[in-house]
Amino acid sequence: MSTIASIGRLSDRTDAIWSDRPAADVGRTDEKIVVVTGAAGGQGAAEARALAAEGATVIATDLHLPELEPPITCRELDVTVQEAWSELGAWIEARHGRVDGLVNNAGIPMRLRLAEITLADLERVMAVNLNGPLLGIQALSPLMEQGGSIVNVSSVAGLLGFHAVGYTISKWGVRALSRVASLELGPRGIRVNAIFPGYIETPMTASAPEAFRQANVDVTPLGRVGQTEEVAPLVVFLISDEASFISGAEIAVDGGQSAHGGAKSLSDAVRSPSSSTP
Ligand SMILES: NC(=O)c1ccc[n+]([C@@H]2O[C@H](COP(=O)([O-])OP(=O)(O)OC[C@H]3O[C@@H](n4cnc5c(N)ncnc54)[C@H](O)[C@@H]3O)[C@@H](O)[C@H]2O)c1
Repeated sequence: MSTIASIGRLSDRTDAIWSDRPAADVGRTDEKIVVVTGAAGGQGAAEARALAAEGATVIATDLHLPELEPPITCRELDVTVQEAWSELGAWIEARHGRVDGLVNNAGIPMRLRLAEITLADLERVMAVNLNGPLLGIQALSPLMEQGGSIVNVSSVAGLLGFHAVGYTISKWGVRALSRVASLELGPRGIRVNAIFPGYIETPMTASAPEAFRQANVDVTPLGRVGQTEEVAPLVVFLISDEASFISGAEIAVDGGQSAHGGAKSLSDAVRSPSSSTP
């Protein structure tokens, strides 16, 4: 029978949670070797910084060398290239001997609609958004010999019928991949979870029309868009041993956008003007 210690690397902090020992001097991701993809900016950079701030040894990767401050190590990695993943795995194995965490964050937008998208377009968005996480899991999970944690960054588009068809297919695929990987890798103590950000202010959303931003505010019960610093703590939690029994989970970080399934406009339409509820 598995013991907690045998199903994942437990940090001093987690030990401290279950004992009376103070943990103030121990980071939540202390002693963990964690790879973050798409970390040159946006959510990936915030996630890399937050993990490093909690003590992780972070390898931040992107198409072009991320410029993140030490002790974060920066490496070039195109997530669509299998050989590049193999090289990264070999480099980490030689240097650290293992991997504890992988954040499959790299992604591209693809705003073409149903009648416009070509197969070439679909292949391009799938290559980055879905093949990338699959290749990452294949390359790095063998280095998680003591267990590990994988976080796949999907999107609210992976929960809804979103108009950007190629992007939506890719993000539903990430959701499926996460479920399968949590099943396959669970016996090795590797947890796999998916997160579903709503509209987060990053270079990706900055390239969308202003009307899209306002429409997102309108469908979000919290009445605003999100910031990268509001996603990164969730990633830190899922990578940390605080989440030691959480696997196969799907967690929205979207201000409530996906929870109402479109019913917010109905609620807004019939809200009494005299209601004390805003
Ligand atoms: N911003 C949002 O509102 C939002 C919402 C839901 C989901 N997401 C998802 O969150 C993740 C992060 O997005 P972001 O908003 O920070 O966008 P971003 O554009 O700021 O960051 C994405 C990063 O991925 C990198 N990238 C692209 N192709 C790559 C490849 N082939 N190999 C390696 N890196 C590559 C880019 O260079 C970029 O640095 C993406 O998967 C995105 O789909 C974003």
